[in-house]
Amino acid sequence: MKIRTVFVCQNCGSHSPKWMGRCPSCGEWNTLVEEVEEEVPVEFSFPPSDPILYKDIKEAKRERIKISIEELNPVFGGGIVLGSLVLIGGEPGIGKSTLLLQMSRDFADSGEKVLYVSGEESLEQIKIRGDRLGLRNGNLYLLAETNLERIIAHAEKINPQVFVLDSVQAVFSSKLSSSPGTISQVREVANRVFRFAKNNQSSSFLIGHITKEGSLAGPKSLEHMVDVVLYFEGERDHSHRVLRVLKNRFGPVSELALFEMGSRGLQAIANPSAFFLKERPTDEAGSVAVCTIKGSRPLMAEIQALVSSTLFSGNPRRMTIGLDHFRAAMLLAIVEKKVGFSFAGEDIYINVAGGLNIDEPASDLGVIAAVISCMKNKAIPPEVTVFGEVGLSGEIRSVSQPLARVKEASSLGFRTVIMPQGNISQLEKKDVPKIELLGAKNIKQALGIIL
Ligand code: TYD
Ligand code: MG
Repeated sequence: MKIRTVFVCQNCGSHSPKWMGRCPSCGEWNTLVEEVEEEVPVEFSFPPSDPILYKDIKEAKRERIKISIEELNPVFGGGIVLGSLVLIGGEPGIGKSTLLLQMSRDFADSGEKVLYVSGEESLEQIKIRGDRLGLRNGNLYLLAETNLERIIAHAEKINPQVFVLDSVQAVFSSKLSSSPGTISQVREVANRVFRFAKNNQSSSFLIGHITKEGSLAGPKSLEHMVDVVLYFEGERDHSHRVLRVLKNRFGPVSELALFEMGSRGLQAIANPSAFFLKERPTDEAGSVAVCTIKGSRPLMAEIQALVSSTLFSGNPRRMTIGLDHFRAAMLLAIVEKKVGFSFAGEDIYINVAGGLNIDEPASDLGVIAAVISCMKNKAIPPEVTVFGEVGLSGEIRSVSQPLARVKEASSLGFRTVIMPQGNISQLEKKDVPKIELLGAKNIKQALGIIL
């Protein structure tokens, strides 16, 4: 067996025979790390296969394990497929271990055999968390171990239906001499767990830490190997967390579930729209409710704007939180040009309340409405909500899923929706009887209705 040294970029995973300050493949600086790679002979773990006619392929029967946290089932496309491998990524401290320990508890309570392996915390530490989460005696095995070969040996002995590895960066294979967390180690760990999951029909979960910049690309480089990729996101100083699907071989993507982190772990938020609107001021200028779509479902959010004169002479500030900065700047320019407001000498702050992130053009009209409302110091009535994409000529363009948006607004007691004229014709009045729909073709018209 030959041993060779390669330099692997920790950002994109490309190999290079010698060290360089800058990765030639992705252009990042100081990301090449020396790793020792043994050339392991190619292993034929699958029996030789023959080509087969398409019509002769039998449909695979997919058994799924239902999750007790109801809101999670759609994220997995209706439960967890037996023998599938799921990667859950997220920033450190966001709640990945908490979520998986809660899921492990529920699986164990409903009779599955679960093995939870932690390479990061001692059994005592896990127990402290487990007590908070109300872990009972069920069929839940815990193991604190960082050696991959030993972990797999235990897993094969216990043969659990659900296997959790926390985290892929903390565990190392003794076959490789590079340190834990490097790309080759992370890949080896994922590979081994993947084979374990398939051979034993154990539904397996890998936890991976990812920093905000995505600079720790270890887990990113695993996305093609696993069946399902989930990202757990949220702001640390807000209690809500979003679990988002990036890839799913057995179900739809762009589904998501919302949770609130409390003193007893994560709690699914049953009515997310109500959650994000609950502290909305009712008669203050500069606030508006918008109907957005997150994943495949509608979500009401509050956009707030603050316009105040720039102190001293200098460039006025433009700040956004939870919205794309460039898009907001573009919308302000459209308003200046098409409606005739001047924002010169005005600092403008735009914020999505509750730490939510809206990355949908359908919120354009909401951004403009909030800014103008503040500028004119005139409150938008609390029972009014808006949505619509705004184009460069100030036109309001149709957006997807108008019915879902209007229904969500109606169910929360909104009485009037100001929306793209083009979407109005797609809706039937009888589907949304309790709410008034007002179409607008351009922002001038819309602002005339709103304010
Ligand atoms: P954790 O699951 O350890 O995060 P990760 O595995 O993603 O690094 O969660 C860490 C945070 O969650 C920690 O700051 C404490 C908080 N927490 C609660 O607020 N309530 C709880 O019931 C638990 C278990 C944790
Ligand atoms: Mg953790």
